[in-house]
Amino acid sequence: MILKKWFAAVLVTALVLQVACYYDNEEELYPDGGQPNTCDTASVTYSATIQPLLQSKCYVCHSQAAALGNIVVEGYANARQYALSGQLYGSINQSSGYLPMPQGGGKLPACDIAKVKKWVDDGAPNN
Ligand code: HEC
Repeated sequence: MILKKWFAAVLVTALVLQVACYYDNEEELYPDGGQPNTCDTASVTYSATIQPLLQSKCYVCHSQAAALGNIVVEGYANARQYALSGQLYGSINQSSGYLPMPQGGGKLPACDIAKVKKWVDDGAPNN
């Protein structure tokens, strides 16, 4: 009888621990590698979001000075042109029919892609 109780207690503890460990799984909570699984696209603007993103990921090849493939995404008017043509989003989302960008680099984080999509869907405003 005592043994049975003890056994039951161990079983319950084991189950509780198993459940606790399951829900503490870091990769499940933070699939983007440590970043909380939230992406705020509500406050996306060209100046605060898009321009810095393009500068850090794309200007190395697509600035006025570099212009690889004859493509420049530096400056609002240039970025807007590729936004409205669909090429900006298509290339970073690596949609079929577009050359995957950034070339030779890993795909941008999903949140960055979502922010670009928001800006493009808003009509690529100069804000
Ligand atoms: C290492 C250099 C490099 C980087 C970094 C890079 N690109 Fe490119 N990109 C190229 C080259 C080269 C081409 C032209 C390839 C060709 O025509 O074969 C190109 C083409 C493009 C095109 C035309 C694609 C199409 O299918 O019409 C777009 C749009 C573009 N890049 C956007 C970007 C954006 C946005 C970024 C940043 C997220 C970026 N690129 C980062 C080198 C780069």
